[in-house]
Amino acid sequence: MQAAPTDHAAQTFHDGTYRKLGFSAQRLYPNEELLRFMGSYYFSLPLNERKMLRFLEVGCGSGANLWMIAREGFEAHGLDLSQEGLLLCEQVLARWGVNATLKQGSMIETGYPDRHFDAVVDVFSGYCFDDKNFNTYLDEVARILKPAGRFFAYTPSKNNDSFRDPGPSRMIDDSTLDGLHRPTSPFFGQYYPFHFTEPEEYEALLVRRGFSVLRNERIGRTYRSREEYFEFTSIHAQRGG
Ligand SMILES: C[S@@+](CC[C@H](N)C(=O)[O-])C[C@H]1O[C@@H](n2cnc3c(N)ncnc32)[C@H](O)[C@@H]1O
Repeated sequence: MQAAPTDHAAQTFHDGTYRKLGFSAQRLYPNEELLRFMGSYYFSLPLNERKMLRFLEVGCGSGANLWMIAREGFEAHGLDLSQEGLLLCEQVLARWGVNATLKQGSMIETGYPDRHFDAVVDVFSGYCFDDKNFNTYLDEVARILKPAGRFFAYTPSKNNDSFRDPGPSRMIDDSTLDGLHRPTSPFFGQYYPFHFTEPEEYEALLVRRGFSVLRNERIGRTYRSREEYFEFTSIHAQRGG
């Protein structure tokens, strides 16, 4: 699928880093908050029920989370803009001896049928948008989830030094910088729309789309020996019937 034009900067950046850094571009092991989501609703299910559940990771990148979803016995699908990321993802899946269906494309126009997935998970991927496209992305998540399907997102909050002190970065809208241009920012060098979402804002956007919010937390850490604070919103939600 052709990426939407507004995604081009994110695609160029991620293709470049996967090509240059290979597996060092991302983690090799799953995100801890995603494991908490899986543990909250899915790990108690027997294997015969797990294989009936269809999971999509949007922005699966090099597969650090997707291999775990497949290995735990769920039907795993991964979508990413970056072909270079997906090539690494294929290798990771093979290394763990598991299968997932991969697709190159944008999460704002996925091409999947309506009500197709039991769960959609987003680990630090649905932030590469301005506010308008972020809303389009959430419409798409609501469209492709089955009724009662669950959504997990882990995305930068605004309680964040990178957002409060953006240095030379420009605001595109109330929630988006044109990239992280301050050299001391933890994600310096990511020059594409970079969206920050407060837990309360995320909750309102999901409730408006018919979701109930199950959990909504702030997850923070420091960088440069506590000089710089970076925080994520970690949200679990369930689509209404
Ligand atoms: C920071 S990486 C995270 C990768 C993976 N979720 C992980 O935790 O290792 C962000 C990923 O989102 C992908 N991405 C960014 N914008 C996207 C979009 N509009 N549609 C699909 N993937 C996108 C990038 O190519 C990249 O692989």
